[in-house]
Amino acid sequence: METIRTSTPSRTLDIKDNLSKCSQGERVIKLLSGEDLPLEMHKTTIVKKLNLMPIDERVAAIGRAGSNTFLLKSNEVFLDMLTDSGTNAMSDKQQASMFIADDAYSGSESFYRLEAILQKVFRKKFFWPAHQGRACEHILSRLLVKPGDVIPTNYHFTTTRAHIKLQGGTMIEIFTDDAMQVKSTNPFKGNIDIGKLEQAFKDFSGKIPFVRLEAGTNLIGGQPISLENIRQTAEICKANGVPLMMDASLLQDNLFFIKTREASCRDKTILEICNEVASHIDIIYFSARKFGAARGGGICLDDPMLADKIKELIPLFEGFITYGGMSSREMEAIAVGIDETMDFDNISQGPQFIKFMVDELENAGVPVVTPAGGLGVHLDARAFLPHVPPEQLQAASLSAALYIVSGARGMERGTGSEDRNPDGTECIANLELIRLAMPRRVFTMSQIKFVIDRIIWLWKNKELVGGLKWRNEPKIMRFFFGELEPIGDWQERLAKKFKKDGGA
Ligand code: F0G
Repeated sequence: METIRTSTPSRTLDIKDNLSKCSQGERVIKLLSGEDLPLEMHKTTIVKKLNLMPIDERVAAIGRAGSNTFLLKSNEVFLDMLTDSGTNAMSDKQQASMFIADDAYSGSESFYRLEAILQKVFRKKFFWPAHQGRACEHILSRLLVKPGDVIPTNYHFTTTRAHIKLQGGTMIEIFTDDAMQVKSTNPFKGNIDIGKLEQAFKDFSGKIPFVRLEAGTNLIGGQPISLENIRQTAEICKANGVPLMMDASLLQDNLFFIKTREASCRDKTILEICNEVASHIDIIYFSARKFGAARGGGICLDDPMLADKIKELIPLFEGFITYGGMSSREMEAIAVGIDETMDFDNISQGPQFIKFMVDELENAGVPVVTPAGGLGVHLDARAFLPHVPPEQLQAASLSAALYIVSGARGMERGTGSEDRNPDGTECIANLELIRLAMPRRVFTMSQIKFVIDRIIWLWKNKELVGGLKWRNEPKIMRFFFGELEPIGDWQERLAKKFKKDGGA
């Protein structure tokens, strides 16, 4: 049984025990054989045919893509674990809702249905729609960030940091010591360090326009923040007279973890937890490509002055204030998707599949981020490929190698996702991860077992994986379009050994 620490170091918490004690009819059904296997609480009604190209074609495809999984075509991929952004499976009710979408340019009924659901979960007076998460970041940064400003956050996200930088601001990351430990038992590795936050207000007095908390912290491995940490952060913000902002894109998993890992929340419903989280936050924005399992975004807040300013920018950059760049059909699907996010059965599938995969990989000795978080499984490329120098982009190399041996694509989340240092040298990332996202309700257990099998083979043959060098390096967000090439012929040699071992 897994025993992990809560945010209060002296207390211990047993996750499984806590799960089984969850109230409100929310329970975890177990196999009587004792095997620990997640059970899907949905059935598949629409399917999409997959294609697993032969390995020689995969080697050619990753070569054409400059060893960058972003540049693969979707039909060259067997299991697409690049991201969960806009790729979660939709429910029958979401699909059905799209048929009654009201395509009015202004005053669309679909908008008001979405607004009503957001009112229910966040209880804020105003909701402004935007076409996706980074559009919200663009508008909020434009209005709130000026040159020289400093924005404390538990951890940055790429698009957030880019928008804050564009306005002349700087993000400072205030994480706890555990956050950068790949292996940890801290259930809330996403927490902001409260002591350091108080210090930041002293060090950067008058320069902090807001504090940003990211739910389900993406770049440190989908790690959650606790309700207690949110509450304490809000207190500090209040004392210093600055608003607290939450990036709620990954709130779905975070709500699951608050319920299952924070003893004080065990008997609360997901909606009650969500309401309580939101009550501590002044400005909430989200990517509905994640939160709401469709495609869109929006900003929720109470402050009428700021709301007025946002209202002016939405029609300029996004679209009229009752669609904000989203199609009415997507607004309907998001509304239902957010309502379904309040259902424990619905939101359990992702974290449980992720935990299954993490446990299996850990048992095989593969270096993987623990505890299992939300969003996906994160391999530690630094420990996986210690023989590849960091400048040769370990995470990108591992990601290309995994595609070759499995047809599954993950995402580099390491040095390749950083900008270079001002002196032109590589900025070696704090964590060198490859993310295997778990789009919700998309994969079957046998597909997950297949990926685990290929990762374990790769782990046993890791010395065959070599490094990469840039052949085309964009200046901004180079991880999206940058092209790399293998140093030497390791990709061909890897494929040869794989075939020799019976792979295809
Ligand atoms: N904030 C977080 C925490 C995110 O994970 C993302 C997107 C965004 C903001 C931006 O939202 O894509 O709708 O503009 N994450 C995607 C990912 C891209 O793959 O993790 P967006």
